[in-house]
Amino acid sequence: MTADSGKITTRRLRKMKALGEKIVCLTAYDFTFARIIDRCGVDVILVGDSAANVVYGMRTTLTIGMEEMLHHTRAVASGVERALVVSDMPFLSFQVSPERAVENAGRLLQAGAEAVKVEGAGPVLEVVQRLVAFGIPVMGHLGLTPQAVHQLGGYRLQARKPEEQERLLADALALEAAGCFALVLEKVPAEVAGVVTRRLQIPTIGIGAGPECDGQVLVLQDLLGLTDEPRLKFVKQYAELSRVVQTAVAEYCSEVRSGRFPGKEHSFYLDEGK
Ligand code: KIV
Repeated sequence: MTADSGKITTRRLRKMKALGEKIVCLTAYDFTFARIIDRCGVDVILVGDSAANVVYGMRTTLTIGMEEMLHHTRAVASGVERALVVSDMPFLSFQVSPERAVENAGRLLQAGAEAVKVEGAGPVLEVVQRLVAFGIPVMGHLGLTPQAVHQLGGYRLQARKPEEQERLLADALALEAAGCFALVLEKVPAEVAGVVTRRLQIPTIGIGAGPECDGQVLVLQDLLGLTDEPRLKFVKQYAELSRVVQTAVAEYCSEVRSGRFPGKEHSFYLDEGK
């Protein structure tokens, strides 16, 4: 099995873990980028509720809703052929009742998602069981769960104390038993993520969780250098696209103002094509 052949499915991700093949996951929110990163061979494309931050400029992910997530899911799904498309279930779309969760997850699947992601454990386990029973694949998310930012007291490193590490492992095992096909581990010590990864049959996807996870995820805008925020320790910036965009747009502004653009080659004339 190679990284570039065949549609990625939840079964295939499990097989990749068994074979020790790393899983590459990246967020996308629109058709254009989804198509580019799918063609690059990214295995899992996450329509993250981080759209709240990088698309809408919201301070937290608590304020993005189902309607926005449905729009972004439709756009991304239109551009993807190979990767598995996973959509985040936004805040309040799955917490109120398992029935509401099934309805909202179903709407995301109708919009083109092939799986959904939910944050947390505890009462979320019943939701996961219900979704899986209805044939909706679920990715879990533990460690720093941004929808619980106010409860957690900020975006800090999780599972530092032994009792928190035990809780994380117990929650991870419970999510696996409830039927999750993969688990995101966000901002936890690398050693702790390593232990969880070795104890689970399902793949772990890390973000700020060290190199021992079965796969990695980043927010696309962070990787491309499109965000203004100070760089987080766990982000590796592979390009400086905001500089590229600034240079291109500044040149465009200057050429329009000077009359250099549009030139004859960008214009239509009445006697053309005769
Ligand atoms: O919303 C998101 O982008 C996420 C990833 C960072 C895991 O949940």
